[in-house]
Amino acid sequence: MPELVAETQRAAILRAEIERHNEAYYRHDAPTIPDAEYDKLFRELQALEVLHPTLLTPDSPTQRVGAAPLKAFPSRRHGVPMLSLNNAFEPAEVEAFDQRVREGLESIAAVDYAVEPKFDGLAISLTYEHGFFTSGATRGDGATGEEVTPNLRTLRCLPLRLSGAGWPELIEIRGEVLLFKQAFVELNARQRERGDKEFANPRNAAAGSLRQLDSRITASRPLSFFAYGVGAGGDQLTLKTHGELMDQLAAWGFPVAEERRIVQGSKGLLAYFAEIGEKRAKLPYDIDGVVYKVNRLAAQTQLGFVSRAPRFAIAHKFPAEEALTVVVGIDVQVGRTGAITPVARLQPVFVGGVTVTNATLHNEDEVRRKDVRVGDTVIVRRAGDVIPEVVAIVPEKRPSRDLFGGEPLHPPFIMPKTCPECDSVIAKGVDEAIARCTGGLFCPAQRKAALTHFAARRAMDIEGLGDKLVDQLVDAGLVHSPADLYGLSMETLAGLDRMGEKSAQNLVAAIEKSKQTTLARFIFSLGIRNVGESTARDLAKHFGQLDCLLAADSETLQLVADVGPVVAASLAAFFGESHNRQIIERLRTAGVNWPEGVSVEAGPKLLAGKTLVLTGTLPTLKRDEAKAMIEAAGGKVSGSVSKKTDFVVAGEEAGSKLEKALELGVPVLDEIEFLKLLSEGTEQ
Ligand code: IVH
Repeated sequence: MPELVAETQRAAILRAEIERHNEAYYRHDAPTIPDAEYDKLFRELQALEVLHPTLLTPDSPTQRVGAAPLKAFPSRRHGVPMLSLNNAFEPAEVEAFDQRVREGLESIAAVDYAVEPKFDGLAISLTYEHGFFTSGATRGDGATGEEVTPNLRTLRCLPLRLSGAGWPELIEIRGEVLLFKQAFVELNARQRERGDKEFANPRNAAAGSLRQLDSRITASRPLSFFAYGVGAGGDQLTLKTHGELMDQLAAWGFPVAEERRIVQGSKGLLAYFAEIGEKRAKLPYDIDGVVYKVNRLAAQTQLGFVSRAPRFAIAHKFPAEEALTVVVGIDVQVGRTGAITPVARLQPVFVGGVTVTNATLHNEDEVRRKDVRVGDTVIVRRAGDVIPEVVAIVPEKRPSRDLFGGEPLHPPFIMPKTCPECDSVIAKGVDEAIARCTGGLFCPAQRKAALTHFAARRAMDIEGLGDKLVDQLVDAGLVHSPADLYGLSMETLAGLDRMGEKSAQNLVAAIEKSKQTTLARFIFSLGIRNVGESTARDLAKHFGQLDCLLAADSETLQLVADVGPVVAASLAAFFGESHNRQIIERLRTAGVNWPEGVSVEAGPKLLAGKTLVLTGTLPTLKRDEAKAMIEAAGGKVSGSVSKKTDFVVAGEEAGSKLEKALELGVPVLDEIEFLKLLSEGTEQ
């Protein structure tokens, strides 16, 4: 077929040209041709490939365009786990890090560090086999992530095929997917125009865009990528330093941070931090700090890892962000136990990476102490993922009645006398900072919260029954108490908003399944004040049968380990209410049951007498699961590290507790070591 020679040549030219433009546009931020011209070349190549499918190569730029929607993401085990970094906030912590590194390396001379921005995006691992991009996954729990290969293929700045030479047969490239600030603004403008949800910040937008089941949506979002390391296959490279590794990644075609440098000692680290801090606002993408890595790879190996983080690297984070805004109102919110929290409604302000419109004022005393009033200009802080709070008012900016028609000063905040949700009286116990609505389950806010708690995984574990659904069920008057859940029919549920027949079926099945439970879960699910999971377990263990618990008086209750007068009073108050007893009876009549007498699984008491501290996020275990396992093995979980602590179980983002453990020489375990301890005990 002689005519295909010309086509093959043309396709190769087009591919090369398109990739060149991609490179200019996505890596150097300098488009070389107008968009329309680019599209023309692109469509010509697509047409050629459609006409002659044999011309299609796996690395063709046309393969970056989205494919048909996926059902769900398959999970993918990383060749080498994706670890986390310890954080530093203060110069002293950076100096301590440098000190530890020098001690670890027995080095008197200043250590060379490779330094780079800490991208505020989403960690990704890309697998290249024989130089071709074959798969990519999110970090997930560090060991296993979600495979999002078709979506990653749509990132024009990712090489589908490595340039140059020298790559191992298989290599995992590690880096961060992010959305540039400008792209984020444009994306949100488009979302707004279409009436779609706007994203809170570029990071969320990047994560949301990458985790799309329809990769055509990902393709329409201009995501970027920066490489910062390697996983599996890295050991086959014959490079000496992290700096060389970054150069190699750039040579293979990966975008790497332009701001990367090599500096010496802690002085060099702190100077770099200051320099990037200055540049931060001008950078085209969001960063949340800088990362310091020991430059020499052999030194990195020598230093190794502690728990889930390397000893050779640390993230130096920027301080929590604060911003100024104006209070437009002060409302109160009702929590699960009726706690009333005053909340400042704010003029929207971008702080700590998100737009904040509400900030907590904690309680009445706090509002008084800070004297926050409507109209005040306030400092709002949002540190990490915590709820934004009003730090203080700016007194100079307080509006006051003046001769020139200024805003009148609003009166001080007064706690309402009745609950905004149910009109019940709001009361405050003696010596209590928190005021509460006395409406109990009569109050819709408390009812909703109680139902969500009842259905929670650690309680009755009704899968699929979350906040939104609970809101609907309560608002529609379908559910007043947990007992009503067991009378819900498929027809009733299918009639609800956004509830298909299949989900209604699943929910009914989940409700049915929840009937088989344990006494401990059942007690916990009732949401009795001061009765957490561990107390519920103690009660179940002690009484064995619900009726014995119901019959117990305050004195008898206090025979249970860890039950003092406060918990006993809460239990007595709860069980003293006839409507609570009725609900319990209705639940039992509906078929909720548990094996009587053997309420908690008895395991070998391998951790009897041991105190453990949990810190950070473990790769697979939730904190409460780990806690339950320790307690089931007879151990105690404490919130702080001391000389008496036997073990610290540390996960990702472990902070000061881990530092303290290292300082005191308390053994630190990662999840695997912890699980081993649980199965084998401490005697080895
Ligand atoms: S190096 C062994 N370098 O920060 C850990 N991480 O808190 C290797 N991150 O999960 C990480 N920019 O997602 C490294 N220049 C950078 C980074 C960076 C952002 C993220 C990464 C990691 C998290 C750790």
